[in-house]
Amino acid sequence: GKGNYNHFMQKEIFEQPAVIGDTLHAFINPATRTIKLPEMPFSFDDVSRLTIVACGTSFYAGMVAKHWIERYAGLGVDVDIASEFRYRRPPLPKGGVALFISQSGETLDTLAALRYAKSKGQKIVSIVNVAESTIARESDAVLLTYAGPEIGVASTKAFTTQLTVLACLAVTIGRDNGTLSKDEEAAIVNALTELPKHAAEVLHHDDAIRELAINIADARDVLYIGRGLGYPIAMEGALKLKEISYIHAEGYAAGEMKHGPIALIDQSVPIIVIAPSDELFEKTASNMQEAAARGGRVIFLSDAQGLAKLGDIASATVELPKVADFVAPILYTIPVQMLAYHVAVHKGTDVDQPRNLAKSVTVE
Ligand code: F6R
Repeated sequence: GKGNYNHFMQKEIFEQPAVIGDTLHAFINPATRTIKLPEMPFSFDDVSRLTIVACGTSFYAGMVAKHWIERYAGLGVDVDIASEFRYRRPPLPKGGVALFISQSGETLDTLAALRYAKSKGQKIVSIVNVAESTIARESDAVLLTYAGPEIGVASTKAFTTQLTVLACLAVTIGRDNGTLSKDEEAAIVNALTELPKHAAEVLHHDDAIRELAINIADARDVLYIGRGLGYPIAMEGALKLKEISYIHAEGYAAGEMKHGPIALIDQSVPIIVIAPSDELFEKTASNMQEAAARGGRVIFLSDAQGLAKLGDIASATVELPKVADFVAPILYTIPVQMLAYHVAVHKGTDVDQPRNLAKSVTVE
């Protein structure tokens, strides 16, 4: 049941500190501060390039993973939408590994992409939330997310636990191939271990985000921008808003604004800026200033340091705890979920069962 919550989606958003913790618990040895994934029947050391395929929110988890695995494990990653990948029939490297991400483990396009990759001799790894699913059964190795059943059609806790598993995978690959030192691994493990606590802190902004949502509920279009690890979270934020509130929203790489989307900006367009104070902060901040200068209503998601620098040009802010760059995308997902949720509740849409959508897409 929904317990004390009004919707499954709300319950599932609030379960995130616990299920991220459960997922970490499965893969992290707290005594040694090291990550231990289940044995896999192949080694990533022999792999020259990794292919990741998924749909929707799970695809955005793949985009984050590409960034992590390239940056922290030095392994090149191709990431693709399953419905594109399967019909393009791309050539795949001999002895390669392909990774499929799916909450349900039943998404038809993802399954078809898996079968294609298998027919091309790839080793198949999947990250699923349903252990007995078809995608899990047809994989050579399975990494589980410990999100528990996700009932709300819009994916929330499945996404953040997918990211948690992918973070562990990126660190494992980087450690095993020598890209990541013991100290770097320990630092990331520390940051991951603190995530449940930080996620709980973000949930405390629920009332403030509900207030904020009132000013977005009347918008026709909403833009989400971010860079680097913040870019997929911008995409995810926009998808959440579209799905449950039926407001048109787009996620963009902040650097792309001046190549087109900035033309959309006027006083009526809220711009959600995802900008932790990391190495790309100044770049994203300048895109935010450009948007504000054109009258856009900026909603700025950052930490104390970022807000101290530029909070005053925003029409609203959400302050997140300062965390290691690596884990920031997991944390910054939570306020964009909450925002979409409260906009939808304010508009009175069916949050858990949005029109035209199914929880598990087993048809094309
Ligand atoms: C978005 C959403 C969908 C799913 C997509 C893939 O909130 O839920 O975009 O992420 O249909 O589903 P799975 O992960 O079950 O393969």
